[in-house]
Formats: sequence, structure tokens, C-alpha cells
Amino acid sequence: MKNYAVILASGSGERSGLNIPKQFAMINEKTVLELTLDVFSSHKNIDEIILVTNPDYFELTNEIISKNNYYKLEKIIKGGATRQQSSYAGISAIEDTNANVLIHDAARPFVTHEIISKCINALKEYKAVNVAIESSDTIIEVTYDNIINNVPDRKYLRRCQTPQCFDIKLIKKAHELAIKENTDNITDDCGLILRYNLADVYVVQGSTDNIKITYPMDMEIAKLILKKESR
Ligand code: CTP
Ligand code: MG
Repeated sequence: MKNYAVILASGSGERSGLNIPKQFAMINEKTVLELTLDVFSSHKNIDEIILVTNPDYFELTNEIISKNNYYKLEKIIKGGATRQQSSYAGISAIEDTNANVLIHDAARPFVTHEIISKCINALKEYKAVNVAIESSDTIIEVTYDNIINNVPDRKYLRRCQTPQCFDIKLIKKAHELAIKENTDNITDDCGLILRYNLADVYVVQGSTDNIKITYPMDMEIAKLILKKESR
């Protein structure tokens, strides 16, 4: 069974404060996008990669790709206005009906081979797999007027990362149900599986380095992580 990676790089990076979408920002010698593609391309169990890119940056994406030898990169397709739409565009590009798909944020360049391997292994038993880490902060639930109404036990709380990984038929079904309901703004794919109660979602351990570059400070943190990893 093939393992496809869908890399989501179609966002505009509003919160990053940069003048280009963060996936095209440089960390030392490479763009965030290249750092992410490097990890998936070099993993022995990833068979094909589909890159979903921002239509306004299609040429830049092609330029970056042509400088590298990403022989597993099969398709570069245009994303949508929301992450959910981009994700659907990515999985729709997979024709294989008996396959796994690992959906990953291009803005998480520090995903590791170990995390990817754990996901692929878990997919032998589960049809939906998420990556998460413990929360170092206590998480509180508040009401609309900022009153705490619950302090859930931290032991059972996790912070989600990507990749989020699925049996291709299952995740396509979840997206199709969402489209029928006119829902297009779910920010994570496992959320769709749960929304329609389609399967158990198993969680594998992520890493504190697998950050999603989101705010300006994250670019500084990313430089430090890259230095530590000496990639
Ligand atoms: N993404 C996407 N298509 C969208 C929105 C997001 O492919 N329409 C991707 C982003 O490129 C990123 C990942 O989904 O790799 C996670 O999204 P997020 O961190 O929210 O990135 P942006 O939407 O680009 O940033 P912001 O929300 O700050 O604008
Ligand atoms: Mg966003």
C-alpha cells in the first residue's frame, strides 16, 4: 500500500508579519517549504508527494522546486481559500483508492523521520492517526464572557501537530460530508473524522521541535532549531 504525503503550502501567513507567505521565507540557506519537502522526500516509506500551493505563488513554487531533485513530487496543485479546501484539493489529486495519506503543514519544517515512521506504523492498525504532544501549560476552558468553566485534567490533554494521517477513502468521505453541509473552515483533518464519528483517531507522540511557524517570533525559534539539528 502506497503512502502519499500531501504538503499544504497554500496559506498566506497573515499572522507571521512577513511580506511573503511564511513557507517561502528563508531559514539560513533554504525556504521553509524546502526544509519540509526535504524530510518527506528522504523518508524511505513515502512514495509520492503532492504539493498544494498558493495560486498567487505558483511560479515561485515552481522555481523553488526546480532547484531541487524532488523525484517523489508528483503533482503541484493550487490550493483553496481555507486550509480545509486546500486539504481537499490535495487528497482529491490522489486517484489510488487503496492508500494512506499523510497531510502535513508546510509551515512545520521540523517534522522528523521518526514521527513519519510512527504514523505509518500506526496506520497498520488505525485508519486515522494524529501527532500530538503534552501541554506544558494548564489548559482552561472559558465561557464567552471569559469565566473559567472547566480545568480539564492535563494528563488527558494534548497539543496537535501534523502530519495527520488517514486511509484515503476515509478522509475523502469526511471531506465530502463536510462539503454537503457547507462546512469549509475546519482547521484540522482529524476534526472532520470526529465530527462525523467515522473512526477512532489514534495519537502518536510528536516533538516540541515540530512547531508550526505562525508568529514573527517563530522564525527566530526556527533558526535556533535548525542550528541545533545542523541540517
Ligand atoms: N494552508 C493552506 N491553505 C489555506 C490555508 C492554510 O494550504 N488556505 C496551509 C498553510 O500554508 C500552512 C498550514 O495550512 O502550511 C497551516 O495553516 P496556518 O498556520 O494557519 O497558515 P496560514 O493560513 O498561511 O497563516 P495565517 O493563518 O496566519 O494566515
Ligand atoms: Mg491560517
